[in-house]
Amino acid sequence: MAYRFSFQNQSVEGIIGQFATQVPRETRFWSSMVDYFREPPESGTDPVIYDVFSLPYGDSSAELMAVLTVLYGGQIGGERFHTKGHFHTEPDGPEYVIVLAGRGILERGQRDGTIEQSIMEPDTHIMVPPGQAHRVVNVTDEPLLFVSLCSAAVGHDYASITTLGWATPKNR
Ligand SMILES: [Fe+2]
Repeated sequence: MAYRFSFQNQSVEGIIGQFATQVPRETRFWSSMVDYFREPPESGTDPVIYDVFSLPYGDSSAELMAVLTVLYGGQIGGERFHTKGHFHTEPDGPEYVIVLAGRGILERGQRDGTIEQSIMEPDTHIMVPPGQAHRVVNVTDEPLLFVSLCSAAVGHDYASITTLGWATPKNR
């Protein structure tokens, strides 16, 4: 399958538009990640935190998962918009992240609670080693766009993120 994406001299809207016309979009509202924010948003609102455009892939280890994430800018109770974050599980594997637009922080966490942060800005490339949880925080009010590449076979463990202190579920 072939795609055509141009990133040079493109506006954020232009990049999103190219993906939107070629790749399925999955929208993550606050209501799908209530345990990952300390406080709820303003009553009656359910902001879009991020959109994920996943290029179709199989699930064999021979296949590659390629995803564009559009993490919108904003905050809820002073907490900046961020992705849920996850560990890769069996089979574990690395993830390669390329920033296209915006500014943010990529947090990488070990199971012992150690967290390292990398600044994300256009043209930053970050390799997340196997065994490290990873999540992205948008530090501005503008969208943060990044492409992630990893084996299509990796599993995703979102629950263990709570042990890193990244999320503070209300029922704990
Ligand atoms: Fe990942």
